[in-house]
This record gives sequence, structure tokens and C-alpha cells, in this order.
Amino acid sequence: MKHTTIQRRAFLKTAAASAIAAQVTSLNVFAAEATKPAILGGEPIRKDSFASWPVYDPAEEERWLDVIRKKGWYRFAGQTTYVADFEKRFTELTGAKYCLAVSSGTTSLITSMNMVDVGPGDEVIVPPYTFSATINVVLLQHALPIFVDTDIETFQIDATKIESALTENTRCILPVHLGGAAYDVDTVAKIADAKGIPVVEDACQSHLAEWRGKKVGTLGKTGCFSFQVTKNISAGDGGAMLTNDEELYHQAYSFHSNGRAFPGVKSPGVYARSGANLRMTEFQGAILLGQLDRVEAQSKTRETNAKRLTARLEKIPGIAPAKMYEGCTRNAYHLYMFRFDAEKFGGLPREKFLKALSAEGIPGSTGYKKLNKEQYIVDRVMSRPFMNVYGKQRIDDYLARIECPQNDKLTEEAVWFTQNMLLGPESDMDQIADAIEKIHAHAAEIASA
Ligand SMILES: Cc1ncc(COP(=O)(O)O)c(C=O)c1O
Repeated sequence: MKHTTIQRRAFLKTAAASAIAAQVTSLNVFAAEATKPAILGGEPIRKDSFASWPVYDPAEEERWLDVIRKKGWYRFAGQTTYVADFEKRFTELTGAKYCLAVSSGTTSLITSMNMVDVGPGDEVIVPPYTFSATINVVLLQHALPIFVDTDIETFQIDATKIESALTENTRCILPVHLGGAAYDVDTVAKIADAKGIPVVEDACQSHLAEWRGKKVGTLGKTGCFSFQVTKNISAGDGGAMLTNDEELYHQAYSFHSNGRAFPGVKSPGVYARSGANLRMTEFQGAILLGQLDRVEAQSKTRETNAKRLTARLEKIPGIAPAKMYEGCTRNAYHLYMFRFDAEKFGGLPREKFLKALSAEGIPGSTGYKKLNKEQYIVDRVMSRPFMNVYGKQRIDDYLARIECPQNDKLTEEAVWFTQNMLLGPESDMDQIADAIEKIHAHAAEIASA
């Protein structure tokens, strides 16, 4: 019995000790797993998905049903409709005098190209670091997109290089407020004003962004916005063009509705001018009203989170968050962008860095490719209609000027996070930074795996 007791005590002691040992071992294993990159078999930093996008609430459902039930699906000119309400509220939000809702960001740019009369033989200044629509709308007018290299620090068009790209054929400057930040508005405006060249702002990614306290999209001849599904204000698809010029607004209204005159404006004939159908539907207008209700709060959350993320990321060697110009007083953070320096990550290639990041539960992408080097641009400018206008010599000269070395470099270094990743709690930002720090600490190991 005694023997048994001793044996039992010894057993309990041993059992307790081994339980503690097991616990310590599992803690060690846990700690090791926590610091071991997920791509090498460790625990991922994050298992939950980021805030989902797009968002809507019951008020939007109600408005949508209202459109269906009233059979008011079409935007009737001069009547109070959801689209007209949206236009009014978007002018209030941005401070623009006039807003024309259209079917997409692309069609707001097409409308603008027609309003500043871009046509065959003209040149339009564009950045290479943008979505294809910025370039396509120029080609659609049978004009030449003149690429001005990127400022690699900010990801925006390098405004200091615009002046030397101007020729007697420059009809318009079409810079992009990329990723939610602003291009260097002062420098662009100075050049444009001196030469009397209109500026069309591509603000498709920068709803509510500001330059010296004024909303972007209200600073040029026109400002163009997209409400495509990924954008910070979304209706699946949709767009808007802002302007402070009443005559231009009336013309744009006609243009976007197959030439029908603006209500109350005298027309030279049955139709006021040539145009196309670029109208927004009431379904889109109904959704957009709801989106406007929450865009300010969402923008504040993105800004707060982006600041927290930048404070952490700029301390990691090899990570360079996109800088903002001093005049950019508000960033809409449609994208969170940074440059990745593989050398400072033990030679880890960017694609492998992104795979390691994804294994930690953080999705990222490489962003834009070299748009100025797309074969379709060469094909288009060498096509019959272009050759008829420009001739071989001018097209050869054009193609010889198409290089943008800084942009080439950026397209090889950039990493993007989407705006919805900035809509969660601040702890989401810490997890993103923790994951990048973890990868940095094990970069050489991951590179050689
Ligand atoms: C910079 C830029 N310009 C133009 C567009 C075109 O907008 P949409 O897709 O609404 O036609 C987009 C959006 O995709 C964009 O990001």
C-alpha cells in the first residue's frame, strides 16, 4: 500500500513534471511556429479575411426596390430622380459647380476628351502608371497619348517633365490622381496656364482626396470619377464628370445623351450636337446615394489606418511607402502602395515576397505593368486611320519617344494593397506590419527554400 502510495506520488510528480514539460515544449513550438514564416510551415499571422467590399445597407435595398416598382428605370431629363439627387449631392461633397453622372469612369473621360475637343492630329499628355482607360480614351479620339515618366517616390506623373513633352500639337494634359493621392497639381496648373492648355483630371481613384484643402476633380477643366465595383464609391459601374463651366456642362449633358439639348437650353435643331448614350441608370443612382452616406466615415478610417501602417512599414528596411506631395492635404487611399527592394530582403524576389505574404493571410499584388510598352498601342498607332492622319515619320518619332525608365523600375518594385484592407480595426494594420517584419527576418531562408 505504502509502496503504492510512493509509487503513485512519484507518478503524479512525474506526470505533473511531464505535463509542464509538455506545456513548455508546446509553448516553444508555438513561439517557433509563430515566428516561422507560414510559407515555410509556420502559423499564419492572420486567418480572417479583410473587410468585404462593396458594402450596402437596407436603405439601399429600399431605394433599389423603389426604382423597380415605380418602373422609373431610366434617367428622365429635368425630372427629380435618383441620378439627379446623386449629382446634386456629389457637387455638395466636392464643391464643384456641376456634376454629370455617366455610365463609367471611362465614359466620363470620353465626355471630357470631347469637351476639350481632342481629335485626330492632337497629342495628350498622360502618365504610364495608370489603368488602360486613361490611354484608350485618347486613342479613341485618334489622338496620340504622350507618356511622361513617373515620379517613382510618389507613383504619380512626374510633373517636372511635362513641359519638355509639350509640342504645338498638345491639346490637353490628362494627369491621374493615382491610388487616392494627388498628382502635383501646382506644377501641372502652372505649365497648363502658361500655355493655355486645358487639364482633364483623371480622379477615378481619388474620391474625396484634396489638394491644399480643395477636392481633386474640381481643379481642372473637368474632373473624372469612376464608381466601378472596386472604387471607394461604387455602383458596380458608373462615373461622373465635374466642371465649374456652365456652357461645358450643358454641352457634356447633350453629348452623353445622344445630342439631346440640356433641358431649357435652346438647340440649333432637333439635336444640339453629336454624342452617344453614356447615361447612368436609376439603379446606379439609387445605389450611389447610399454609398455617399458612408464615404466620409470610410475615408477617415482608411486615413487613420494608413497612417498607422506607414509608421510601421517605413521602419522596415526595403519597404518604401508611396510619398505624397506637400500640397496633398488628403489621401483617399484607394490603394496602399509601396516599393519593395529585393536586395534589402536577402535577394527575395517580389513575387516570392507576395507569396510569403499571402501565406501569412495578407493579400497583395504587383500593380500596374508597363502600359506604355503594350503592343496594342503600337498596333493602334500604326493602324490605317492613324497612318492616314500622322504619316509614317510622325508615328516613328512618336514610338521613339515612348520610353519611361523610372516607370519601368516602379513596375518591377511596386506592391499594392486594396482599399478594403484599410477598413477594419487598427489591429489589422499591425498584422500586416507583423507579417512583413516576419518575412524580412526570414527573407534569406524563404529565398533559398
Ligand atoms: C485611373 C483610372 N482611370 C479610369 C478608369 C476607368 O473607370 P471605369 O472602370 O469606371 O470605366 C479607372 C478605373 O478602373 C482608373 O483606375
